[in-house]
Amino acid sequence: MAEKETTHFTNTGEVLLEVKNLKKYFPIEQGFMHKKIGEVKAVDDVSIYINRNETLGLVGESGCGKTTLGRCIMRAVESTSGEILFHLDAKKPPVNILGLDKKELLDIRRNMAIIFQNPYSSLDPRMTILDIVGEPLYLNGYSRDQITDRVKELMSMVGLESKFLNRYPHAFSGGQRQRIGIARALALKPRFIVSDEAVSALDVSVQAQILNLLQDLKETMQPTFLFIAHDLSVIEHVSDRVGVMYVGRLMELAPTEEIYLKPRHPYTEALLSAIPRPEPGPKKDRILLPGEVANAADLPPGCCFHPRCRYCQDRCKTEVPPWQEVSFGHYVSCHRADDLELQGVIER
Ligand SMILES: Nc1ncnc2c1ncn2[C@@H]1O[C@H](COP(=O)(O)OP(=O)(O)OP(=O)(O)O)[C@@H](O)[C@H]1O
Ligand code: SF4
Ligand SMILES: [Mg+2]
Repeated sequence: MAEKETTHFTNTGEVLLEVKNLKKYFPIEQGFMHKKIGEVKAVDDVSIYINRNETLGLVGESGCGKTTLGRCIMRAVESTSGEILFHLDAKKPPVNILGLDKKELLDIRRNMAIIFQNPYSSLDPRMTILDIVGEPLYLNGYSRDQITDRVKELMSMVGLESKFLNRYPHAFSGGQRQRIGIARALALKPRFIVSDEAVSALDVSVQAQILNLLQDLKETMQPTFLFIAHDLSVIEHVSDRVGVMYVGRLMELAPTEEIYLKPRHPYTEALLSAIPRPEPGPKKDRILLPGEVANAADLPPGCCFHPRCRYCQDRCKTEVPPWQEVSFGHYVSCHRADDLELQGVIER
């Protein structure tokens, strides 16, 4: 399959993180000799940048590689190839996270944090809130008194009373537990946070509270977010720009309002058509995609979305569409990006 060239983006902001041609292929092995019989292309040649203080939303169906991309950036999993450049100090050259040794990685990780999906399984039930939230501080040499003071401060920031410091996670509701997870992620004042489905496991009303909390923290602490979710309404609410993934590849990337009102990729159009809109006015039909999500171990030739695309033409079945900028800061991988009039969410 033809490989895309390294992507050059037009950008007016100041970049914090750049992902260049990132690939993560998981081997498929068979038998006790672990013979490699194939590979799952979980992330396949993805290039993105995230500016300082920006929230980049990442959306796509289950299994499209969102978590793997986030884990590669955190180096929780080793990438197959590519570069992840962290521009920690704007005056110095960026650091390639994939080239760091253990010690260098530990140093840079202080600037990065992750908020997980499941607030029930991500908190150790045998640790108190003080220990859970304070652990990153402890690992970075803070004294007991410093840890207690900072944990109290963090609890107040996420809307929890510090009198709960010595309680265990089971004493808290799902929303409160997610606040604890957020407090832990913020402990070392990270510059970059991956939020992986942080509100997906919560009730809708609690979701709104946590999203508002994240927005408030964004204003006060100004971290940069990679916000992963499969819910397009949630993504719209929090993101400055949005990337749409399908079986390990980026299909479209654009500023939020533009992608929601004027999508340029048929897959984005189909995802948008499924958002329930309570507002009065004309309703549009949901686009039901035929067939299954493509198999990341055996991708269709040409455009990987072609077996499900209602606009597919012959060349889509053989030629990989190039990644092209169709308007300022709006990128898409579709042969027909210029001739299709796709429908976004109805203008409000
Ligand atoms: N450790 C692993 N070993 C083998 N395959 C893996 C591993 N982790 C992920 N995969 C595969 O990589 C692909 C991408 O998975 P990933 O979890 O990144 O998707 P996702 O978009 O986060 O999905 P979801 O929305 O369900 O969380 C899937 O096909 C998955 O089965
Ligand atoms: S390249 Fe062809 S098959 Fe792929 S999304 Fe565009 S129109 Fe559909
Ligand atoms: Mg995931």
